[in-house]
Amino acid sequence: MTHPIDRPFSFGLAASSPLLERYDNHLTRRLASMAGYYLDSEAYTAQLAQENSLVYEVYEIRRPEQAGELLSGLSILHPGKVGTEYFMTKGHFHAVLETGEIYHCLNGRGALVMETPEGEWAVEALHPGQVLYVPPRWAHRSVNTDPTEDLVTFFVYPGHAGHDYGTIEKFGFRKLLVEQDGQPILLDNPRWHPPETRR
Ligand code: F6R
Ligand code: ZN
Repeated sequence: MTHPIDRPFSFGLAASSPLLERYDNHLTRRLASMAGYYLDSEAYTAQLAQENSLVYEVYEIRRPEQAGELLSGLSILHPGKVGTEYFMTKGHFHAVLETGEIYHCLNGRGALVMETPEGEWAVEALHPGQVLYVPPRWAHRSVNTDPTEDLVTFFVYPGHAGHDYGTIEKFGFRKLLVEQDGQPILLDNPRWHPPETRR
């Protein structure tokens, strides 16, 4: 007999609550889980001492993590900053590097910061209705540049992709998004080194 999970299914998607009609897992990332990610470590420590803020949440529709499957869900990145650097996701390469991802922005304003293992970089704007294609091999991080709105994106990626957080945790992305005179600007990340000089 066919298991019900192997039957086609559908679900509603909306930028406002209830965001997903059905989901299997709700993941939360608070400031405390992001030690070392923000450039201004003093601002990070001071802010964490005030409040362990909720930075982002992910609602996942679980499927077997294997080739042929598609994993999807909703990412909600709350507005905020650490120092002048906007709230962001940790960011990652896929463990199976040759796997891409689609992001569809439903609400808010921000960007996806991306780079390859060779150090090529790209920053693409996210706003409602925008669909962003992340090619295989490109690490990706969402950044919320709106002062008040959640950045809400629906994502889909291959079941066997997996996640590799280590490189980004250690070196960050090549480009940072910070606020200057009320506007987002791109800065070179001083912690970043060309891949050939890393050890
Ligand atoms: C999955 C993917 C997104 C992110 C989510 C949280 O491959 O790219 O679902 O996982 O936006 O970001 P991270 O995983 O970087 O904490
Ligand atoms: Zn991904």
